[in-house]
Amino acid sequence: MSALLLFTLGDHPALLAGLRAYAAVESGRCEIRRFPDDESYVRVLDDCRGRRTAILCSLNQPDDRILQLVFLAATLRELGAQSVGLIAPYLAYMRQDKRFHEGEAITSRLFAAQLSAQFDWLITVDPHLHRYRSLSEIYSIPHRLVHAAPLLSTWIQQHVERPLLIGPDSESAQWVEAVAHSAQAPFIVLDKIRSGDRDVMVSTPDVTRWSTHTPILVDDIISTGHTMLQTIAHLCGVGLPAPICIGVHGLFAEQADARLIAAGAARIVTTNSVPHASNAIDLSAALMAALVDLEPG
Ligand code: R5P
Repeated sequence: MSALLLFTLGDHPALLAGLRAYAAVESGRCEIRRFPDDESYVRVLDDCRGRRTAILCSLNQPDDRILQLVFLAATLRELGAQSVGLIAPYLAYMRQDKRFHEGEAITSRLFAAQLSAQFDWLITVDPHLHRYRSLSEIYSIPHRLVHAAPLLSTWIQQHVERPLLIGPDSESAQWVEAVAHSAQAPFIVLDKIRSGDRDVMVSTPDVTRWSTHTPILVDDIISTGHTMLQTIAHLCGVGLPAPICIGVHGLFAEQADARLIAAGAARIVTTNSVPHASNAIDLSAALMAALVDLEPG
């Protein structure tokens, strides 16, 4: 069977290099740019007739990308691709998973319907599953999930002596526990109350018994950083060493990265699901394993 023809939307130098190292993946070429009036131009430069194709595109800042993604997927199909898959290391619009106020759009469901209509399959990394127990509740296409927990554990074991893992809320408990278990580290999970996009309160547990440990805040998404900022403020006040902030997906809205460092974080570490200076954990081997599992070539 021929290699998967992989197109890229957005800048994913590290992931692309990692995936291209596998013989089962061949780089696809396309031209994507904006006209002066901001409309998009999309052109596929390879013959994709009868080929299995996929698009690598993380969906941070999704509103800027979704239209080009849909145009590219539809064009690949029109040009005769046998299949069109999506590798979206960060999958957006997972957090609005219920109508919190009357009249709100449940955008997780609407976004999933759009992508399910355009793609034959989906691979993503730790999607924010809270009220949905599985991605199948909203995505109707075959999919594989990559779990970053083992990679986070390995990074912690290699870089931190005496870590104490801290999850900011009950949603994080599932995988903070998994990371802590394989890193053989103690962990605590805080309670979080969110009353607005930038308005977060986390509980302040007694951590004095861990005073010789390095606190490691672990969350799936770092967006505005307010969840971690609240926790850092508490930890700094009780004399623990400066914490390390680990996020699977670093979105860093509103210069959250700079604010975390200014607040006292010793370091920020993320996977390369979203390109950023903090990327220290490579997902390409795990994504490739998911690809082979989904599309045994
Ligand atoms: C939501 O529950 C997620 O797990 C994260 O805790 C949240 O997205 C972090 O957002 P922020 O960085 O804006 O506090």
